Amino acid sequence: MPGAVQIRSLQGIGVREVQALSDVLIDCVEGGASVSFMAPLPRAKAEAYWRSTSASLSRGERLVLTAEDEAGTIVGTVQVIFAQPENQPHRADLAKMLVHRRARRQGIGAALLAAAERSALGAGKTLLVLDTASGDAERLYARQGWQRCGHIPDYALWPDGTPCATTIFFKLLRD
Ligand SMILES: CC(C)(COP(=O)(O)OP(=O)(O)OC[C@H]1O[C@@H](n2cnc3c(N)ncnc32)[C@H](O)[C@@H]1OP(=O)(O)O)[C@@H](O)C(=O)NCCC(=O)NCCS
Repeated sequence: MPGAVQIRSLQGIGVREVQALSDVLIDCVEGGASVSFMAPLPRAKAEAYWRSTSASLSRGERLVLTAEDEAGTIVGTVQVIFAQPENQPHRADLAKMLVHRRARRQGIGAALLAAAERSALGAGKTLLVLDTASGDAERLYARQGWQRCGHIPDYALWPDGTPCATTIFFKLLRD
């Protein structure tokens, strides 16, 4: 990864971050990523998503990590979502792993994932779960020790409306 890239766990999501995170989300959807949104993703909808994520961060329900390039621009992000039933206090979901297309294949996804795992462990979580439709992401998770445990056909839609399968992964975290 380029030395100048900084990974941060956000304390809050202000106007600047909402705009930059929306840029990343819109770029990923334009690029065909299955990340809950259909194409084209209007900027207002992307910004509304990040504002609701900000409220959830403020309530302590999740962590939002970012990767910033040497100019201080957010080029990647990932979330650890804590809000779980009371019988799963040790578990969290990993979600919205997004790297802008212009910043890919430099190790930023791997750095975000490692930082998310450390942050989750630091918050007392020992089991992480995720689902992904992306072959690029599957290789990333497998390389970092995640266990693939199943494939569900027709789980969601690609941004263009065609059906999309998903693969479930988990990772047990240890000190
Ligand atoms: C999945 C995703 C987050 C990966 O992000 P990334 O920053 O490109 O990830 P990395 O750079 O760590 O790894 C990607 C590849 O680059 C390679 N790489 C890493 N550093 C490199 C370097 N310095 N030089 C050359 N290649 C490098 C990795 O080995 C990996 O190779 P692979 O494709 O053969 O597996 C990104 O593709 C993305 O945002 N996709 C769209 C959104 C999405 O689908 N997210 C998943 C939701 S679960």
